[in-house]
Amino acid sequence: MGGEEQLQASSFGEKFSWGVSSAACQTEGAYLDDGKGPSIWDTFTDRKGKICNNDHARVACNFYHLYPEDLSIIRQLNIPNFRFSLAWSRIIPGGTGAVNPMGLDYYDRLIDNCLEKGIDPWVTLYHWDLPQALELKGGWTNRDVVSWFSDYVSVCAKRFGDRVGHWMVMNEPMVFTGAGYFLGVHAPGRRGVRNFFPAVHHSVLAMAEGARILKSACPDAEVGSTFSCSMIEPQTTSRWDTAAANRVDALLNRLFIEPALGMGYPVKDVPVLRKLEKYMLPGDDQKMIANLDFAGVQNYTREIVSFSLFTPYVHARLVDAKRRTKDITEMNWEVYPPSIYHMLKKFDAYPGIPKLYVTENGAAFKDVETAGRVHDERRINYLKDYIAQVFKAKQEGCKVEGYFVWTLTDNFEWAEGYRPKFGIVKVDPETQRRTVKDSGRWYGDFLSGR
Ligand code: FCB
Repeated sequence: MGGEEQLQASSFGEKFSWGVSSAACQTEGAYLDDGKGPSIWDTFTDRKGKICNNDHARVACNFYHLYPEDLSIIRQLNIPNFRFSLAWSRIIPGGTGAVNPMGLDYYDRLIDNCLEKGIDPWVTLYHWDLPQALELKGGWTNRDVVSWFSDYVSVCAKRFGDRVGHWMVMNEPMVFTGAGYFLGVHAPGRRGVRNFFPAVHHSVLAMAEGARILKSACPDAEVGSTFSCSMIEPQTTSRWDTAAANRVDALLNRLFIEPALGMGYPVKDVPVLRKLEKYMLPGDDQKMIANLDFAGVQNYTREIVSFSLFTPYVHARLVDAKRRTKDITEMNWEVYPPSIYHMLKKFDAYPGIPKLYVTENGAAFKDVETAGRVHDERRINYLKDYIAQVFKAKQEGCKVEGYFVWTLTDNFEWAEGYRPKFGIVKVDPETQRRTVKDSGRWYGDFLSGR
């Protein structure tokens, strides 16, 4: 990496927010403790064959009970910001109606413990764990979800708004609607455009409404939402591949941010999106606008796309990373640091986004432990190289003002179960013992200017 190896956290300026990210369902465990209701992930993981090794998140990292220890690690590594999500069904077990005081108390303790340790809490309201009771009423395909979600957001804003300065309404709506309601590989396991399109539109409306509620209840807070994105390139320069890549880009990278910015859905590029109109009511064009203070950019990789006659709707397919490179992660994602630079530039070019934060970036590699140490050199290099690309974007004037590593502890990686390990801290599944990996030590040193 030449001179970039000298890169210091301080080079990004004092105001730059460094952090680490996590999510409730992936870490908390305690899946029915203290009055929590089941979420769609609790139900989905009960279905045989849905999750690698039939893993489930009932215990996960037991963060519900061990959070003081994890926050101490964050403190010890000198990480100033911690992003985590609230489990809707811990706070409102039935999705709507009665609030669970023990759920609220738990998040009070978590937030207070962050503040006592000098860690700034960044809170995501929805990281994919819809209360199962709401899925029984249609989940994200039912337009009522907008008001169910709004009630939940109001409860959280009112209770935690005095201490939380950064909110993210949703995590990666493209992934939870695409994987959960189109492909059926994530909870709740529904398929097809008849589920996907209403889920998309209602998520867009709920994101905007959630942002409005937060901004009026917490006028001093920064309110944003996070978006998955991958750099998309055509396999060849042919007209067909180029057009196919453009359609995939519209679908994966633009489908949620553009309506939130008042640009509508990218129907020109993906004509099948006209079907969304069926779910739109008069006035929705305005209601879709979210007025976000920031966009959370979440990037891991790039995708190479080629034309395909056999893929319905988009006529495009992703070229398997394994077939084109050796430099891949345990998720079969290509390691391609310039991807994050290009995605930051892409989001930066939209008018109407005041700020960008990289709210997730990281990598799953096979970790080997020797004599009590995890020497995860590849993860360190991944983080260094991606951070260098963030720096490059920033130096060119891009308004990126923070970076969060995904993730603190090895955790429940959705349909992949516990196999891929993303943590900078190892968790022994038997004992729950935490071991800071070399990447964690490296991040701590980097942030401390050592
Ligand atoms: C993102 C998710 C996060 C985690 C990482 C690896 O898409 O937001 O929960 O699973 O991928």
